[in-house]
Formats: sequence, structure tokens, C-alpha cells
Amino acid sequence: MPKIVLHRDGQTYEGEVNANTNLVVMAGIKRFPYPNLRYGCGMGKCAKCACRVLKGAEHLPPPNWKEQERLGPRLEEGYRLICQLWVNEDVELFQDKDPIKPLLPAPAVRSGAAE
Ligand code: FES
Repeated sequence: MPKIVLHRDGQTYEGEVNANTNLVVMAGIKRFPYPNLRYGCGMGKCAKCACRVLKGAEHLPPPNWKEQERLGPRLEEGYRLICQLWVNEDVELFQDKDPIKPLLPAPAVRSGAAE
């Protein structure tokens, strides 16, 4: 079972989750890392779930297009959108006190009307 370590607001939270777990989904059903992981949309739009991966990044898949659009150069600093990740190995995360601002806002739903 993957071991999760989450640092936030000067505290450290640890827990184990089943393999192939999405931590935002878990927080959404009030299981670890609830209530300590901040998140919002759960869909890669708001970047509220962004964390820096301190350990275990090598076991994560490459960033998807949502992470690339929202995080941009922050990917080089180790940031990932936790809602976009399914964890299969131990990982250690650091979540900033304040949410980061997404590099690009999520595209608005197009109505088909002329812009
Ligand atoms: S919860 Fe909104 S981008 Fe992850």
C-alpha cells in the first residue's frame, strides 16, 4: 500500500492508501488525506490541489495537458495537480499555505456564438 506524507501549514500528515488511488477523490469522500489536502474542482482546472512532490516523483506518470496548462514552469519546480494523479507508490507532498494561481485559466465552455 502506498504511504502518503503530506506537509501543510507546518504540520505533517501520514497515511496509507490503496494502490491506484486518487487523493482528491479520497479527500472528497472524507478519507485520508481529508481534511488536510486542499482541493477544488477535482478536474484539473483550479490548481487548488497543487502540491510540490518532495519524494516519489519518479513513480508518477508524466504531467498531462491540464497540468502543463495550469502549472507551466512550476512543473520544473516539482509541482503537480494532485487531482490528476493516481498513486501507486509512496509519495511525499508539500502543499503551499495559499493556493497557487493557475498559469492559464480553464477554457470557458464554448457556446458556438461568435466571439
Ligand atoms: S482540484 Fe482543481 S485542479 Fe485539482
